[in-house]
Amino acid sequence: MPSTVLILGAAGRLGQVLAGAFADAGWRVRAQSRKPLPATLAEQPRIRAVRCDALDAAAIAQAAQGADVVIHALNPPYTEWDRLALPLADAAIAAARASGALLILPGNVYNFGNELPPVLTTATPERGNTAKARIRIETEARLAATAGIDSVVIRAGDFFGGTQPGSWFDLALASKVAAGRFVYPGPLDVAHAWAYLPDLARAFVRVAEQRARLVGHHRLHFAGHCVTGDEMGRAFELALGRPLRSGTLPWSLMRLASPLVPMWRELLTMRYLWQRPHQLDAAALGALIGPVPQTPFQQAVNAALADAGVLISSARVAAA
Ligand SMILES: NC(=O)c1ccc[n+]([C@@H]2O[C@H](COP(=O)([O-])OP(=O)(O)OC[C@H]3O[C@@H](n4cnc5c(N)ncnc54)[C@H](OP(=O)(O)O)[C@@H]3O)[C@@H](O)[C@H]2O)c1
Repeated sequence: MPSTVLILGAAGRLGQVLAGAFADAGWRVRAQSRKPLPATLAEQPRIRAVRCDALDAAAIAQAAQGADVVIHALNPPYTEWDRLALPLADAAIAAARASGALLILPGNVYNFGNELPPVLTTATPERGNTAKARIRIETEARLAATAGIDSVVIRAGDFFGGTQPGSWFDLALASKVAAGRFVYPGPLDVAHAWAYLPDLARAFVRVAEQRARLVGHHRLHFAGHCVTGDEMGRAFELALGRPLRSGTLPWSLMRLASPLVPMWRELLTMRYLWQRPHQLDAAALGALIGPVPQTPFQQAVNAALADAGVLISSARVAAA
């Protein structure tokens, strides 16, 4: 019997790539979303769409029946975390309780607060000194404290790759390449943690396959690619086959306008992530699954730019 995964938020950035990766690995996938799944996923025989709101407890409990793994890949709009993040987490917890499935949460680095150290291990203390850090700490605490479920957090840096827009990679870095510009939100010499989504999704599959060893609550870190802005910019130039001028975001203007533009206010609170070098230590993940999926950096950037609709050079296409 193939194993079954329920993915909450399957039409999202991570959710779509997860659905494809689990189906490719032979799993039966129940793909929850409010909006329709892209045709590339909806047409796959191993993927069954579950169209409902994640806060519809009865529909989610039914979708969870018989699942071996539930993945909480929901993400409220950035400006609505205060109101929605914990109810959505509670919905995922309820789904796992209803089915006895392992609950997997894609974690981020917000838990370490705005003075995060350069190397983040699974033992690094959390620091709730931003609103979003407090929400993420509380989310994970609820997973850990819920009796009767096994859960694991797989923490990663900023997503790139995949066809669903909305990441820093496509909204900032790649946004002006047609005009010859590489837009980087911070100093170019500061290392930043990135997670190439196809690699991260394959790591999720491998963790799910180890669910018998994941009794209780666990935390794993996915290292991905830790690179500076300079390194990312050079990879863009190589992919495109032409030089780019580097520029930054108009942070001062964003600060001035932030009382009127809630999204800019939220982005300003996260600016520290571009100013403080950080990388994730994947020792615990490697100990569980062995070699962690890792596409070579340039190849990942080429594919992510193509996914974002940016034309990469014909030499790069030929090489790929
Ligand atoms: N983005 C990153 O760089 C990053 C990095 C590390 C960790 N993470 C974590 O990974 C998880 C997934 O992130 P993502 O970027 O893949 O998410 P996303 O694409 O922004 O959103 C995922 C899905 O959440 C659902 N959703 C949004 N608001 C909702 C609401 N009010 N009620 C019910 N469902 C709602 C939407 O699905 P429907 O509209 O179809 O229902 C959406 O497609 C989050 O926990 C995030 O913090 C993200």
